[in-house]
Amino acid sequence: MRLRKNNKAGEVLRKSRYVIDNPGEYKGKWHEVFDNANDIHIEIGMGKGKFIIENAIKYPNINFIGIEKYDTVLMLALKKLNNLELSNLKIICIDAKELESVFDHEIAQIYLNFSDPWPKNRHHKRRLTSHDYLKVYDNVFKNDNVIVQKTDNQVLFGYSIESLSTYGYTLKNVSLDLHNSKYKEDNITTEYEEKFIQRGQPIFCLTATMTNRE
Ligand SMILES: C[S@@+](CC[C@H](N)C(=O)[O-])C[C@H]1O[C@@H](n2cnc3c(N)ncnc32)[C@H](O)[C@@H]1O
Repeated sequence: MRLRKNNKAGEVLRKSRYVIDNPGEYKGKWHEVFDNANDIHIEIGMGKGKFIIENAIKYPNINFIGIEKYDTVLMLALKKLNNLELSNLKIICIDAKELESVFDHEIAQIYLNFSDPWPKNRHHKRRLTSHDYLKVYDNVFKNDNVIVQKTDNQVLFGYSIESLSTYGYTLKNVSLDLHNSKYKEDNITTEYEEKFIQRGQPIFCLTATMTNRE
């Protein structure tokens, strides 16, 4: 299940109190890991971790799990956690394809920040808002489904709007320029987002919600 690209990174990850090395063992039992019944939010593709770490600091009553497929990238996130004691944050090194083997109807919110756009049409199923992934998320969400997306990529954003609404999601908090909108106030930026802001590029965002269909 784990992707070990680099032995040294794998070793560092295994030693970190933030990293859950055997996430499949906690399927259906993530509240035991946090030792409380608070909501759990996950970020898929957390990269170097700025967003999820700052969220965990700002919202101590929410549990956060950062997901990233490359352990070498996670090493950089762990450096940011060196002097922090956050009991509401865990990190796992898996590919999003494996979400169903790690979570069972226990997640309140999913963040998709600057996900890989997979620009070629033949790769559209790999986009994290494709129908195939939305089906996976149905088994991950606890009650209502809530997906919060930010991206600089207009094609991915357009694709996501179509895919999410066709699937049955309702879209709200939609902006084609997050940093010149009312949503800016509560926004926590990611590493990629900071780069795009510096270049003056607009950030697209949306929140997609769907009441549990069962
Ligand atoms: C463009 S970066 C964005 C990183 C961060 N969210 C940000 O906004 O700064 C996308 C990240 O998602 C990770 N990623 C891409 N596909 C993934 C997948 N299927 N499962 C887990 N992580 C993935 C990549 O390794 C990369 O770190």
